[in-house]
Order: sequence, then C-alpha cells, then structure tokens
Amino acid sequence: VDVERAALEQHGVSGATATLSRGRLQPEFLVVKIGGSLFSDKRDFQIADEDAIAGYAKLVAGLVAGTRNRVALIVGGGAHAHGTARRLDPDDPFARALITEANFSLLCLWARALRAEKVPAVPLQLAALCAVGPEHLIVHPHALSRWLDIGALPILCGDSVVALDGTLQILSSDRVPEVLLQVAPSPTRVVTLTDVPGVLTDGPGGSNVLREIDAKSPSAAYDALWESPEWDISGAMWGKLRALVDCARLGAECYIMQGDPNAGSLRFLLEPRDRWPSDIAYTRIADASGPWG
Ligand SMILES: Nc1ncnc2c1ncn2[C@@H]1O[C@H](COP(=O)(O)OP(=O)(O)OP(=O)(O)O)[C@@H](O)[C@H]1O
Ligand SMILES: [Mg+2]
Repeated sequence: VDVERAALEQHGVSGATATLSRGRLQPEFLVVKIGGSLFSDKRDFQIADEDAIAGYAKLVAGLVAGTRNRVALIVGGGAHAHGTARRLDPDDPFARALITEANFSLLCLWARALRAEKVPAVPLQLAALCAVGPEHLIVHPHALSRWLDIGALPILCGDSVVALDGTLQILSSDRVPEVLLQVAPSPTRVVTLTDVPGVLTDGPGGSNVLREIDAKSPSAAYDALWESPEWDISGAMWGKLRALVDCARLGAECYIMQGDPNAGSLRFLLEPRDRWPSDIAYTRIADASGPWG
C-alpha cells in the first residue's frame, strides 16, 4: 500500500485520497439515489407505493446506523414529478412551481417512513438550495453542510429551479448528486438504484450488464441505450448516465444497480469495492485516470 500511495502521490493525488488504490478506496461520503420506478409507476399521477417506501426506509436505516455525516439520500420524483410535469399549463410561467409542491409532498412521505425507522431524515427543497447558472448549477451549500454536521440525513429530489433567464427549469433527480458533490467530502461514491441491474448491452429484458464505463470515453455505453417512453420527462437511462458521467468527471465513483426493498443490507456500499459481496451486479462509472481508477 505504501508503494501504491507513493505512486498515486507522484501523479498529484494527495492526502486521504491517495491512501489506497483501485477497488480499495473507501468513500468518505455516499450519495444513494432510489429511482422513482422502484416505488411508483411514472404513468400515474402523484401516487407512490408506501409499502415499497417503507421497505427502502428500513434498508436506509440499516445503512446509516452508527454513521454520522457520511450519507445523503435522493429519491426519484416518480409519479409525483413525471405525473405533475405532464399536466402543467403551458401558458403559466410559474406552473412548474407545482413540481416543487408535488415533489416536496413525496419527500415528506419518505421522511415519515424514515422517521418511523428512527432515522433523523430531513426533507430539503432543491429549489431553495440551487439555481441554474451559465454553465454549472449555482449551489448555496451552507445550510446543507450544517444539516450534515448535526447528523441529519438530508433527503432530496429533483425540482423546478430558477434559471438565469428568469424561467423555471426542471432539474431531474439524476442531477441532484452533482449538487451534493459541492458539499460532500471526497472521495464520494454515488449509487443509483433502479429497476435494471445496470446498463444492459443486449436490449430490453436483457441480462448482459456493462461492468465498467470510463467517464472520459463513455460513447459505447450511450450506444447501448434504447429510446425512452414519451411519458418519461427525464430521458430514463440516458439522463441517468449523462449525469453520472458528469459526476465521475468531477471525481466521484458512480454505480447503477438494481434496487430491491427486501434486500438484506446496503451496508457494503460504505465499504471499499474489494470487500463487496461477489454476486453484486452493477455498472460502474469512474474516471479511469483519477484516484478511484
Ligand atoms: N441499455 C439500457 N440498459 C438498461 N436500461 C435502459 C437501457 N436503455 C434504456 N434503459 C431504460 O432506463 C430505465 C431506467 O431509467 P429510469 O429513469 O426509468 O429509472 P428510475 O429508477 O425510475 O430512476 P429515476 O427516478 O431517475 O427516473 C430502464 O427501466 C430502461 O427501460
Ligand atoms: Mg429517470
């Protein structure tokens, strides 16, 4: 390990980040996203499966037990966001504020389920934390950092946020990890749980999971994606992959894997990858020349 650390430091990777190499790096911070498809049908209008939410809340409680300031949770907007977005009045410039309301009520369902598991979950409105800037998102990080400092589990979701031209822009939950990267200690891992075990290379219903994507050359992965249904407002896997490639370029190690509310534990997500159970399927997206390897 000392030899590897020296090699990493020679490449400009210093401090805690350089302590371990590929597969052995432990995340300081974990962002977990639970996809909307895992607890709702996006074709519906503002309906969520509270039994599924309760199952995931138990899993999250096990994940954060005994930890402090190490995890944030994102939930997909599901039928709250997609259902609401499809029904907006195109002539009302503030119509998208209804997405803020719908998504916040979804966050409150999650907060209630997590509180039932004794998790100090706090629903936070993305629209109050960030705005769309000329190139990147402009994030007001202080309140978010303080919530983490005091041991809360922030829960966030996509939202409708103010853009530079004064319009409201929908920011899907896929983009929220990017917001958290501005406050999360490095190295950060981002795990998105969804209804498929990763990026499939053999089409819908397939089983061949693309194991690795180098964030610097992701084009083969995009080629494997099929078209999103018209009722999905955020480009399904395309939106997810694009956002995770951006996060990986910012230094995060990112995963797409299948969610299961009855899974035994998610605790392994806080461990270095070489300590994970060997049967976990996933697509991993990282910068192959960065500290995660
Ligand atoms: N090559 C591919 N491999 C896997 N899934 C793909 C692929 N191409 C398109 N998809 C679609 O992407 C979907 C997953 O994205 P989707 O946005 O629906 O996830 P989600 O879990 O609901 O999360 P979110 O809350 O962000 O919407 C899959 O159900 C699948 O239909
Ligand atoms: Mg989606």
